[in-house]
Amino acid sequence: MAEKRILCIGAGYVGGPTMAMIACKCPEFCVTVVDINPERIAAWKSDHLPIYEPGLDELVRTSRGRNLFFSTEIEKGIRENDIIFVSVNTPTKSFGLGAGLAADLQYWEKTARQILEFSQSPKIVIEKSTLPVKTALAMERILNSRENGIHFDVLSNPEFLAEGSAVGDLELPDRVLIGSRETREGLQARETIAEIYAHWVPRERILTSNIWSSELSKLVANAFLAQRISSINTISALCEKTEANVAEVSCAVGMDSRIGPKFLNASIGFGGSCFKKDILNLVYLCRSYGLNEVADYWEMVVRINDYQQERFIQGMLGAMFNTLAGKKIALFGFAFKANTGDTRESPAITIARRLIEERAIVVISDPQALKNARRDLAGLEEHVHYVEDPYAAAEGCHAIAVMTEWAIYKDLDFQKIYNGMEKPAFIFDGRNIIDHRACFDTGFNVFSIGKPPLTHFER
Ligand code: NAD
Ligand code: UGA
Repeated sequence: MAEKRILCIGAGYVGGPTMAMIACKCPEFCVTVVDINPERIAAWKSDHLPIYEPGLDELVRTSRGRNLFFSTEIEKGIRENDIIFVSVNTPTKSFGLGAGLAADLQYWEKTARQILEFSQSPKIVIEKSTLPVKTALAMERILNSRENGIHFDVLSNPEFLAEGSAVGDLELPDRVLIGSRETREGLQARETIAEIYAHWVPRERILTSNIWSSELSKLVANAFLAQRISSINTISALCEKTEANVAEVSCAVGMDSRIGPKFLNASIGFGGSCFKKDILNLVYLCRSYGLNEVADYWEMVVRINDYQQERFIQGMLGAMFNTLAGKKIALFGFAFKANTGDTRESPAITIARRLIEERAIVVISDPQALKNARRDLAGLEEHVHYVEDPYAAAEGCHAIAVMTEWAIYKDLDFQKIYNGMEKPAFIFDGRNIIDHRACFDTGFNVFSIGKPPLTHFER
């Protein structure tokens, strides 16, 4: 019977997988994950988990019912657990001051108040959500606002997992970061959390820091990753003008060990729930400290991402004789990246909407994301079809646009697909993953990101 206890508030993409890994690696801990959303909790308890993530079903199955529990009883959870991870959503604020930039901290603050209300013993409260630097100060002020003698230590332990590889990222993290106040209690709490991770993460990868560095490092890590993508995407535009090939450029540049090869794949732009929101959050923070040049610098990373998506649409329009009206276009992939069903901020949403504005008929295919796609494009049913099988999706289409780097799209029989399409047939590869030369030889006119087009038209 597990004796030590951990609670996680928020059973989303972070809370669920992270706690499943802790439960698996720390059998002496009883881990409970709570959420206000009863459907989500029911799904975590079922055979159909609320999120698709390779390896997650097996991971959850090893501990669920043994030392991993999912529940909606938040009050009970807070009362019974003295280590509380908070992993609620922190989206971009959509109203009032800072709308469109700042983090919306309402879910976060509500959780802090619940913890205060239901606590009967000292707690370590850990920020797992991504938050603006200095949020812990607000958390401390709320938690310590009652004179009831209960002591709260607030720590920052940001999560660096990427979707699609979450299980591997949790099992073998590059680092685990734990920030705390540098007081005796703060350092003690830091060690308590470090000991949990030390069950499977080598000590030299468990990094400790002051709490503000920890909060800020998370925003900066995402900003740097996204910046690399925007950087290579700007170069893809230049490649298209100069007949340079962006894949060759990124290979040559990335082989410099000071630069490194990762996150240099030119694409239709980055998606996902965090890059954009975290950079905008950083921009807002910088502006609120009067650092306008710093804010402008980071804001460009997001602006280039928007530019890249608009450039893709303009490329399609230009290639297809400046009209898409009435044409059928198959989108291969709708998730924001491969190996996930998540479509939050997926470039495919923008592309689909823009194609519909141009009066095209859109056929969406994706192995995991059709349910979310239907939700994202609600109200546009008249213009969109959803077809899981890519062969059937492309049937009768004028063009295919690759939106997600799913491995299955590399191995399709493009001859078969070509035979069933309207001619001239086009492929726009927004991820540079298919064999462009082979598709061209099949008869397609092939347009990719940052590479010379392969067309059968006379110049
Ligand atoms: P999510 O939306 O999938 O999950 C958040 C969950 O919190 C939801 O199920 C929601 O119902 C629940 N919730 C909100 N308020 C609550 C409350 N008061 N009490 C109980 N539950 C509540 O979000 P996510 O993708 O898991 O992200 C959570 C945080 O982690 C965000 O700050 C995000 O920036 C950060 N993060 C996300 C990722 C990722 O890959 N998704 C990676 C690293 C960090
Ligand atoms: C990202 C970070 O990689 C995680 O470390 C972080 O924890 C997480 O955000 C978060 O805070 O939410 P995630 O968004 O899940 O993870 O996925 P990434 O692999 O970073 O991909 C993000 C987007 O960039 C995807 O749309 C992907 O297709 C795109 N991308 C990635 C490129 O266009 N080119 C690349 O070279 C790499």
